Amino acid sequence: MRSPLDVRRACPVTELESSDEIRFPTGMGELDRVLGGGAVKGSLVLVGGAPGIGKSTLMLQICNKLCEFSKVLYVSGEESEHQLKLRARRLCVESDQLFVISETSLEDLLESVTLEKPDVLIVDSIQTLYNSKLDSPAGSVSQVRDCTMALMQLAKGQNITVFVIGHVNKEGSIAGPKVLEHMVDCVLYFEGDQHTSYRILRAAKNRFGATNEIGVFEMQDSGLVEVENPSKLLLSGRPEDAPGTCVTCVMEGVRPVLAEIQALVVSSTSNNPRRTSNGFDYNRAAMLLAVLEKRGGLKVFSCDAYLNIVGGLSLDEPAADLAAIVALASSYLDRPVSNSLVAIGEVGLTGELRTVNQLALRVSEVHRLGFKQCIIPAYRAGELPKPNGLELIPVHNIGEAIRAALRL
Ligand code: TYD
Ligand code: MG
Repeated sequence: MRSPLDVRRACPVTELESSDEIRFPTGMGELDRVLGGGAVKGSLVLVGGAPGIGKSTLMLQICNKLCEFSKVLYVSGEESEHQLKLRARRLCVESDQLFVISETSLEDLLESVTLEKPDVLIVDSIQTLYNSKLDSPAGSVSQVRDCTMALMQLAKGQNITVFVIGHVNKEGSIAGPKVLEHMVDCVLYFEGDQHTSYRILRAAKNRFGATNEIGVFEMQDSGLVEVENPSKLLLSGRPEDAPGTCVTCVMEGVRPVLAEIQALVVSSTSNNPRRTSNGFDYNRAAMLLAVLEKRGGLKVFSCDAYLNIVGGLSLDEPAADLAAIVALASSYLDRPVSNSLVAIGEVGLTGELRTVNQLALRVSEVHRLGFKQCIIPAYRAGELPKPNGLELIPVHNIGEAIRAALRL
């Protein structure tokens, strides 16, 4: 029989010790920023991203700095020690404080940790790790959960900072980072288009900091290089002063993402003008062309029109309407849009501009990425915070938007 005296008593919060968390730099300022000012000792950070995006590269590169003041154990289930050595050499990561082992068994991993007593543990990847006590295969939800739980206990119990790599597919929905988000301290997503070299690191969850910071990198032959002026990179390859392109900001899940919309409008030789759209809903594009003809007064109906989202993105949000309209008008009128301008807003059938959800978040992303002007729906625009250096241009309809964007 349990006596009332055995029950653990709650403690007044004022009597608890509040040792501030200990942080250390990773040597990558962009990563430190996303982490909220460096990695927190004894925390577990999940680094998610599509295969091939550069997660292993990022983790191996930070070893250089980490090894200056700590012992790092890099456990890879994806590559052999030899392959790791080659990669480390290529990235100029050479330290006798970096220990690598190719391992997929959780029990053996825990044993290595007991033997090596590292300060930092990197696990690459959670999908290759398995606990032999479970029947399910490596990468299944139960394995991924169980192994993460064990790593979490390691982080908290032995004050080891653990970075865990997890692969996600394009929808971000596989057994991996998504099912683990609630368990870990920090979830970072490493994103980018396979065909371009820039990569963006975002925090989807952070127990020790804000989640609205992003880190931008460029993948080069020598590894990931931090990008100090992200907008420059995002705009790289973007033709300067060429008509028919406009940038917008869409939400990918909870995260704002900038996308470039390109349009080409040319007079048609056919009775049935050609329309194609790539990455943009075809019917929506047809509707926008009709609105442009009837409400914007541009005679686009007899023209061939092509719409393309650069970088293979697929936009299914009305918030991208305005940028599509501006790009189409820009091509039709043969007048370029300023390279530092972004347009956000839903377009209605009367040509009116309607507001979109998460506008403040989108605008702050536009600001963070260094753009100078942002066209937004006028409705409740006054309630938005005014970011320094970003001019907000509230408009009521597509006519105002086109005049503002093309400086007519
Ligand atoms: P990697 O870190 O292996 O991706 P992940 O661990 O997320 O699956 O990166 C893979 C890609 O990065 C690969 O296609 C080659 C490229 N890469 C470079 O361009 N430069 C480099 O220095 C390295 C190491 C990789
Ligand atoms: Mg990898």
